[in-house]
Amino acid sequence: MKLVVTGGAGFIGSNFINYWLSRYKEDTIVNIDKLTYAADPHNVHLKEFGDRYRLVKADITEQQTMSEIIKNSDLVVNFAAESHVDNSIASPSQFLVSNYMGVFSLLECTRKYDVRFHQISTDEVYGSLPLDSSETFDENTKYNPKNPYSATKAAADLLVNSYINTYGIKATISNCSNNFGPYQHPEKLIPKTITMALKNEKIPLYGNGEQIRDWIYVEDHCRAVESILTKGRIGETYLISSRNEKRNIDVVKKILEMLGKSRDMIYFTKDRLGHDVRYSINPKKLEKATGWKPVYSFEDALKLTIKSYTEGN
Ligand SMILES: NC(=O)c1ccc[n+]([C@@H]2O[C@H](COP(=O)([O-])OP(=O)(O)OC[C@H]3O[C@@H](n4cnc5c(N)ncnc54)[C@H](O)[C@@H]3O)[C@@H](O)[C@H]2O)c1
Repeated sequence: MKLVVTGGAGFIGSNFINYWLSRYKEDTIVNIDKLTYAADPHNVHLKEFGDRYRLVKADITEQQTMSEIIKNSDLVVNFAAESHVDNSIASPSQFLVSNYMGVFSLLECTRKYDVRFHQISTDEVYGSLPLDSSETFDENTKYNPKNPYSATKAAADLLVNSYINTYGIKATISNCSNNFGPYQHPEKLIPKTITMALKNEKIPLYGNGEQIRDWIYVEDHCRAVESILTKGRIGETYLISSRNEKRNIDVVKKILEMLGKSRDMIYFTKDRLGHDVRYSINPKKLEKATGWKPVYSFEDALKLTIKSYTEGN
């Protein structure tokens, strides 16, 4: 297959390209990436893939350029987005452009050339659950995004669904929980904790650190997307999770323990505005439809992640 991957110089996109091209030796990938501050083109294992891989520096909102590339492809997987909630609170406008108008541009192109489209989305579209509940999100949960980042991702999902319903485009959506692993930008909790602890710097934690996130190793996410692309049903949405709910404070303590550092390095800061308290995802639909299961335990994945940062990715 000829794939177009957008945002493939970022964290999850680059892991996906490395995973896919190592596994599907006949396939080619064109990576379209605007190369924002969050990107690093060296995340892709260029030397291994030769002319099966090409990077195009472009913005997904440029419909003309997207059309030229997409018309010759079999499949578009969209990872491109502004992804950091804090940045969306400080300055939302680029989030609307990339995360919403960018998806509109890709939908127009895939519709025109009848190309399969997969939208990578987030569990944050469902909002937040109370700390003391056992409730989980599933595909029937009502969208209730709580910050500008999740609102733009939710809006994009709705647009994809409207294109499926109105134009019958061949599209799927996946909403995944919090990822971690190699090549993640150190603005995010796990790589921030690892890189700061390695430099013996104090580690800031929002509020009281009690917020719960549902963690998945990035390679398990890539494998789940592969399952949807190869076995999922067109028109469907699938939730992805490894059922690893952890309090932020416990994740940070675990990393410090693994690095042999003191818990005294943690300090608490003023909480993020409108901070979501708990995410919890039920991946039953995906498991039943495709047989996907995560491969990595949280501890093993954390060890691999720490290794990738200590050995310089
Ligand atoms: N990181 C997570 O835990 C997580 C969880 C669920 C879903 N997601 C989704 O997965 C996707 C990838 O997330 P990530 O953590 O790898 O993000 P990231 O910030 O590491 O990478 C995003 C990439 O997109 C590129 N990009 C941004 N705007 C662009 C534009 N207009 N045109 C072209 N390229 C553009 C950036 O240059 C960067 O390389 C996002 O859509 C995000 O919403 C992330």
